[in-house]
Amino acid sequence: MDKLISKINDNSAVVGIMGLGYVGLPLAMVFAKKFNVIGYDVSENTVTTLKSGKSHIKDISSDVLNTYLGSSFHPTSNVNDLNKCDFFIICVPTPLNGNHEPDLRYVESATITISKILRKDQFVVLESTTYPGTTEEVLVPILEESGLKAGVHFGVAHSPERIDPGNTYNVEDIPKVVGGINQECTEIATMMYGAVLKHIVPVTNARTAEAAKILENTFRCVNIALINEMSLIFDMMDINTWEVVQTAATKPYGFMSFYPGPGIGGHCIPLDPYYLSYQAKKLGFMPRFIEIAAEINHYMKIYTVNVAREALHNVGKQLRSSNIAVFGLAYKKNIDDARESPALYVIESLKNLGSNVTVYDPHISAFKTPFGTLFSQNSIEETLKDADCAIFLVDHDEYRNIDQETITALMRHPIIIDCKNIFDKHHDIPCYGIGKGSVQSLMKSPIIIDEPIPKPIPIHTSIRLP
Ligand SMILES: NC(=O)c1ccc[n+]([C@@H]2O[C@H](COP(=O)([O-])OP(=O)(O)OC[C@H]3O[C@@H](n4cnc5c(N)ncnc54)[C@H](O)[C@@H]3O)[C@@H](O)[C@H]2O)c1
Repeated sequence: MDKLISKINDNSAVVGIMGLGYVGLPLAMVFAKKFNVIGYDVSENTVTTLKSGKSHIKDISSDVLNTYLGSSFHPTSNVNDLNKCDFFIICVPTPLNGNHEPDLRYVESATITISKILRKDQFVVLESTTYPGTTEEVLVPILEESGLKAGVHFGVAHSPERIDPGNTYNVEDIPKVVGGINQECTEIATMMYGAVLKHIVPVTNARTAEAAKILENTFRCVNIALINEMSLIFDMMDINTWEVVQTAATKPYGFMSFYPGPGIGGHCIPLDPYYLSYQAKKLGFMPRFIEIAAEINHYMKIYTVNVAREALHNVGKQLRSSNIAVFGLAYKKNIDDARESPALYVIESLKNLGSNVTVYDPHISAFKTPFGTLFSQNSIEETLKDADCAIFLVDHDEYRNIDQETITALMRHPIIIDCKNIFDKHHDIPCYGIGKGSVQSLMKSPIIIDEPIPKPIPIHTSIRLP
């Protein structure tokens, strides 16, 4: 692969990014600073939007896109354009199927596309999050259908993506883990990423790189579940979990802060641990942490609805026919991604229980789900007007400015369910929520976590609308 090495060294290597979503587009912008980048996506809509100079990813401004568009960045949905590429990076979705098992169709289809045009001295990196073994067991056999030998004629590696949408951390500053299918592949991938990123972490092989990413996300999922469970216990003891976490965090070592909430969302934390669990079960091992964490995190959505029901009951009202204002479609603060968001379940449950639901998210105007499209109201005021109860599912910055006078003036019954500790606990209006230690008097029955986890929402039936 000497030819490829010299192309990396003189910056003439052409990078082919497969999938221009939350991961692919930011990565394309980083490589475009030094290399020519062909950004390939099967979605013609996405490519047309990008070609028009408009970014569909919030973390990449249209100004940044336009800096490289047409010069070093070329979005396309034409497979033939990929012939120019030397270094492919696959950034396609890795969802779950209806049985909570890995759905590798997107990875396989992107790999087949590359396999059909593969030639000597090219390199393929998988960045999509997946179970350990995918690069060697799924990608390599498909790529070798070209008649070429992986690790000899062309290179293969795994390099997990660690970006965190909404986080201002610079992509270039995030240490990049790289594991090739052999030593030479690790070295070449390290060289290529090292040309545009500051810190590269080469590891023994591709499966170690895959495992590291799964560990990171499972660690997050399990710890969020732990603090969620703690908050259920502390809520009954009338203890504020938020204050407890801040207090525990004063210990200078051995503790890391996680905060409770109405469940987890996004394309990563709720899904990735199942990839590991699937492989572990195939080896005859029943992973328990992963399943329990998923159950607790799912229960938080039910708990949120229960708290709203009991809070209304307290003032002689019920969910049926009440006007509920939901704040937040996104799965976390200040982002525009509603995939797997707790909001989808909470809103659907409230509607099924007969509530009139309005929703406001300043970052998402409409979101298509299998249950219908959810449209955001235009303002905080419009959403609060005549509401009997307002549920705050995320802590978008815009919500922090809502004052007590506005709430009292606009709502029919000023009841607040604050799932992310937005409002001060000494607020004058009834304010319940997750981890606020105020539900002791509300909950009449013990908390029972017994509802099966619903099937994952099929990807692409759940999409962000312009
Ligand atoms: N979103 C995150 O915060 C994040 C962070 C780290 C890792 N990841 C992982 O990165 C991967 C991609 O996630 P994402 O959030 O960017 O997904 P995304 O849905 O935002 O983007 C994926 C893109 O791939 C395109 N695509 C699908 N099949 C294709 C194919 N065969 N060829 C070319 N393009 C194809 C889709 O049209 C879409 O534009 C997943 O494995 C995810 O787990 C995501």
